[in-house]
Amino acid sequence: MLVDGFQRTISYLRLSITDRCDLRCAYCMPEAMRFLPRRDLLTIDELYKLAQGFIARGVNKIRITGGEPLVRRDAIDLITRLGQKLGNGLNELTVTTNGTQLAANAAALARAGVRRINVSLDTLDRETFATLTRRDRLPDVLAGIAAAKAAGLTIKINVVALKSVNESNLPNLIEWAHGEGHDVSLIEVMPLGKVDGDRVDHYLPLTEVRKVLDMHWNLSPSSYRTSGPARYFDVRETGGRIGFITPLTDNFCNGCNRIRVTSTGQLYPCLGGGERVDLRAALRSPDPQAALDSVLDEAMRIKPERHRFAITERGAAPAQARHMSVTGG
Ligand code: GTP
Ligand code: 5AD
Ligand code: SF4
Repeated sequence: MLVDGFQRTISYLRLSITDRCDLRCAYCMPEAMRFLPRRDLLTIDELYKLAQGFIARGVNKIRITGGEPLVRRDAIDLITRLGQKLGNGLNELTVTTNGTQLAANAAALARAGVRRINVSLDTLDRETFATLTRRDRLPDVLAGIAAAKAAGLTIKINVVALKSVNESNLPNLIEWAHGEGHDVSLIEVMPLGKVDGDRVDHYLPLTEVRKVLDMHWNLSPSSYRTSGPARYFDVRETGGRIGFITPLTDNFCNGCNRIRVTSTGQLYPCLGGGERVDLRAALRSPDPQAALDSVLDEAMRIKPERHRFAITERGAAPAQARHMSVTGG
């Protein structure tokens, strides 16, 4: 078992397999983002061994993240191998993707045993998408989502709520997603890593979005849960669900059950903290299992009670210098 100093049991591993991405979302990274040298990444074998170590310690849900995980050529190999652990320690294997490469990969994901994926899509307007992500790839993402649906995957659309970017189109986006049978998670932008602009300019508290949504629809608290941070509401008129991920306006850390590992094997026990332990050194030591167990114990000792994210003054340095793409969120 993995239990931290606040008696929280950790059962959810977010495993980043690359920090690279084929988009450059303005709230996530600068246009001139520098990625890690490929030689520093763990191999698929190492990632698989790590995952096995976590499963042995009680992790039952693994989410593969990036950067964009599907830009890594051997992503499907790892996911297929991990899929064989389903029903054998693992209850859920899932992926967070930007969707650009989904059309080519959806069927393979389904074959591997993935049942549910989260796809990031902040707008349905091609120009807004191209400006926000700095790449004109909306048609690829929509084709990817359609392919995932055709492959039988359950899809949740992740939407970062951004003032004067997608703010006025959120009801349209939700209506489209629910019409397609997809749930939506709305996300507050978090201060991770420097970007070209200032996140304060586009920070939109979900308390404000909620007021607007209440004018359109009847939302009631849902009994639906994943083991992620979203709190869900059922929308009576659409029959769909909206999740709210509110690190800034409504802290969810007391229910934290997760940790994240980067593509180079650094374990960050909190997205909002700098604490970390090095799993790669443990993996490459003479007795990897014992070394891994001991660093996992250390990670449980240093996991902080909560993040300290705040978006307040203009020009303030981000709470963490590390970008979201390093840990996959
Ligand atoms: P579900 O299994 O569908 O609940 O997935 P999820 O919401 O855990 O994962 P996803 O990768 O789709 O993440 C959605 C958003 O939640 C991203 O912006 C993540 O950074 C954020 N998120 C996930 N876990 C945490 C967390 O522990 N702390 C904070 N602050 N944000 C998180
Ligand atoms: N704050 C909030 N969400 C972010 N994402 C990327 N960077 C940030 C940030 N700084 C989102 C992506 C994706 C999810 C994994 O995290 O849009 O949906
Ligand atoms: Fe857990 Fe840290 Fe996320 Fe809070 S911010 S939910 S403590 S990982």
